[in-house]
Amino acid sequence: MYRRRRVRHEGTSDSSPSRRVVLVTGGAKGIGRGVVLHLAGKGWRVVFCDVDRSVGEGLAESAGADLHFVQGDLSSESDVERVVDDALRWGGRLDAVVNNAGLADPETGPVERLSLQEWQRRLDAVR
Ligand SMILES: NC(=O)c1ccc[n+]([C@@H]2O[C@H](COP(=O)([O-])OP(=O)(O)OC[C@H]3O[C@@H](n4cnc5c(N)ncnc54)[C@H](O)[C@@H]3O)[C@@H](O)[C@H]2O)c1
Repeated sequence: MYRRRRVRHEGTSDSSPSRRVVLVTGGAKGIGRGVVLHLAGKGWRVVFCDVDRSVGEGLAESAGADLHFVQGDLSSESDVERVVDDALRWGGRLDAVVNNAGLADPETGPVERLSLQEWQRRLDAVR
């Protein structure tokens, strides 16, 4: 379901208890992916979640970093609980959350033209 790798980083050693753990939501692609790689490069231990399993697993595998991917859909309360539980189990602590996941699709046009169902989908992704 997920993979982890070690990353070279400045400052503390891999085993240092002072290494901070961050959870990045929607970390498989786009801005979230950039945040994941940036923080890993800064020495954070990074757990990231995304609804897209294949891309998330691909990033965790290819980045060569101390990353941990958890597949999860943030519009599902049980998935959110599972993601946080998994993050805590892996990291032993949770110092920060970057709540990045969301739907930003310019193809759908202005927000006032969204159907109620589409609008609800966007709200659910960030709650
Ligand atoms: N790109 C922009 O210009 C822009 C502008 C303003 C705000 N934002 C916001 O920044 C954030 C990232 O934008 P982006 O352009 O990188 O988007 P993106 O679509 O490239 O990436 C979003 C990531 O979140 C994941 N995701 C979406 N819904 C999810 C869910 N329910 N559960 C788990 N993962 C989910 C997607 O799979 C994807 O990997 C979004 O919240 C977006 O609304 C982006």
